[in-house]
Amino acid sequence: MKNIVILISGGGSNMAAIVRAAERDRWGHAPGARIAAVISNRPDAGGLAFARERGIAAEVVDHQRFDGREAFEADLAAVIDRFDPALVVLAGFMRILTPGFVGRYAGRLLNIHPSLLPAFPGLHTHQRAIDAGCKFAGATVHQVTAELDHGPILEQAVVPVLPGDNAQSLAARILTQEHLIYPRAIARLLAPG
Ligand code: GAR
Repeated sequence: MKNIVILISGGGSNMAAIVRAAERDRWGHAPGARIAAVISNRPDAGGLAFARERGIAAEVVDHQRFDGREAFEADLAAVIDRFDPALVVLAGFMRILTPGFVGRYAGRLLNIHPSLLPAFPGLHTHQRAIDAGCKFAGATVHQVTAELDHGPILEQAVVPVLPGDNAQSLAARILTQEHLIYPRAIARLLAPG
């Protein structure tokens, strides 16, 4: 059985979409994968309750308890490694990762970003797309490399930017697509051949 570990910081709706897809499409049967753990860097992340209700190990590694990024990541990696993950999935995990951490999970670390990368890496992507006059926006699932919001693209979804959109309405439209492409990207990656 391949273990998937999902890292979150907040509501965890992408994590929930992945968990639901795993149940619906019986990933345990094929490709033989399960969501082994959900780990949050914030103790109050809403997604933790969802994971616990499903019987998934839900852990907290609170970044505020550590002096610096390396110390935080050392503890985070220790918790992740307990689950011997085939994939580590960043789902709204809002911490910048050091090259050392990224290298440790090279080839098995995924992220979703709410823009059509390589456009608009970083924060405030929805507002920046609106301010730039984009007619289309979207989301990207990609392999994580040392450079923030870069790395080989696995899936993308495109949505229109509509007249009158604000960052919130555009984010909501994109999020519904994120919930489709993230489980799909993971299933494709885990499928044999
Ligand atoms: C999602 O829109 C995700 O793409 C974004 O945070 C949101 C998390 O929502 N991630 C980033 O901006 C990472 N740079 P969720 O907690 O409901 O999945």
